[in-house]
Amino acid sequence: MQRTCLAIILAAGESTRMKSSMSKVLHPVAGRPMIAHVVESLVKASISSAALVLGRDADLVKSAAARNDIDLSAFIQTERLGTGHAVLAAKEAIARGYDDILVVFGDTPLITAAPLTAARQGLADGNDVVVIGFKTADPTGYGRLIVENDELLAIREQKDASEAEQKITYCNGGLMAINGAKALELLSRIGNANVKGEYYLTDIVEILRAQGGKAIAVEAPETELTGCNNRAELAAIEAIWQKRRRHELMVSGVSMLAPETVFLSFDTELGQDVLIEPNVVFGPGVTVESGAIIHAFSHLEGAHVSAGATVGPYARLRPGANLGPDSKVGNFCEVKKAEIGAGAKVNHLTYIGDAFVGEKTNIGAGTITCNYDGVNKHVTRIGANAFIGSNSSLVAPVSVGNGALVASGSVITRDVPDDALAFGRARQEIKPGRAKMLRDRYRAEKAAKQKT
Ligand code: UD1
Ligand code: CA
Repeated sequence: MQRTCLAIILAAGESTRMKSSMSKVLHPVAGRPMIAHVVESLVKASISSAALVLGRDADLVKSAAARNDIDLSAFIQTERLGTGHAVLAAKEAIARGYDDILVVFGDTPLITAAPLTAARQGLADGNDVVVIGFKTADPTGYGRLIVENDELLAIREQKDASEAEQKITYCNGGLMAINGAKALELLSRIGNANVKGEYYLTDIVEILRAQGGKAIAVEAPETELTGCNNRAELAAIEAIWQKRRRHELMVSGVSMLAPETVFLSFDTELGQDVLIEPNVVFGPGVTVESGAIIHAFSHLEGAHVSAGATVGPYARLRPGANLGPDSKVGNFCEVKKAEIGAGAKVNHLTYIGDAFVGEKTNIGAGTITCNYDGVNKHVTRIGANAFIGSNSSLVAPVSVGNGALVASGSVITRDVPDDALAFGRARQEIKPGRAKMLRDRYRAEKAAKQKT
């Protein structure tokens, strides 16, 4: 689309119903602030300028919204006098001159690019106002769209609607596109003569029509326009988001045995033929390459899992975990800021943190990298084809060479050279017959005691 566009994101609300110490648009959906979802959809709709209308937590909201592929300016709405008044807070930005003005809400994070583009197309087709509407079984609380012969005649707010109008189920999603050349003039005519005494953006439709301009509504799915006013709605939005993203991933070739138990982040990337077992949680920053398996009850965050690797069940990958191709991290293992080489195995009850594990190395059950001395973190380096015996502690900073072998139960405090065998434990002694001797003595002593 060659037309220029300014998006205006309304986010000046008090968020009273969220009962929160922060603005609702900062509350996360899929691990990222709601406002960032809205901005991403603008970017996907190829919109490169936006004005934020802010109230509380303005600086935090501004930085949560910021990204380098969209130019954002911020405006403060000092009094909360309604959506029409809020849009005019960005007057200066509108006055720069754009073909299209697109008003969106900061608390509608499920909106995708498609309806935004459709609304702009409506302007390109010669309409002056295009409203994004949705049909719903329960229209309570929404502005109703009064449409006749494909033209939008008016938007009536719930409180101002007649009984007949309240029966209309086609509602205002709150988002609209306005002809940029007419926007300031139309907006400045909005008054506050209504039940709530607010400046309603929605009045723009009748103002436009009185001047002979044309308005239409374009329909979008109800789920995309779900707004967030309280925590219950936040949870509902999260659920819709999760379901949508799981579906996209499954359609792209990811298998999930029980999709409704898998939780994704906004940026989770799963390759083709990845299998996700039940009850897996992805925090931010996870990439899983093709053919990898994430077994049940695993928790991953900031981790990379290469092709053919397997994780879990019950594994925890923390930020900086980088699993090489065909490697294995098994049950009750935790990996943090560590590289696990191709084909290496960390199968049972192990902590690997601040470490490098070479290719094909085997880490025995219960191995711990002791990476923290209470003040500083230190690095453990383990070479390729090494073998760490079960229940060993590797006290960092320390290194174990290629092909080296660490005996089980060792506490390793000094570097182990390539191909060396290291014992770091007391030598075993055998006293033949001593167990029986001791047992006989104890029994005799006990019997003597009982006699007296
Ligand atoms: C609005 C619409 C209604 C629509 C509904 C969809 C109006 C008059 N009504 O109603 O037709 O069906 O959204 O969800 O537009 N805001 C400000 N400053 C203000 C007032 C609001 O920034 O002075 C922001 C809010 O933070 C919010 C958005 O504008 O992001 C919508 O405001 P809200 O009060 O929730 O409008 P609704 O009553 O839901
Ligand atoms: Ca609302």
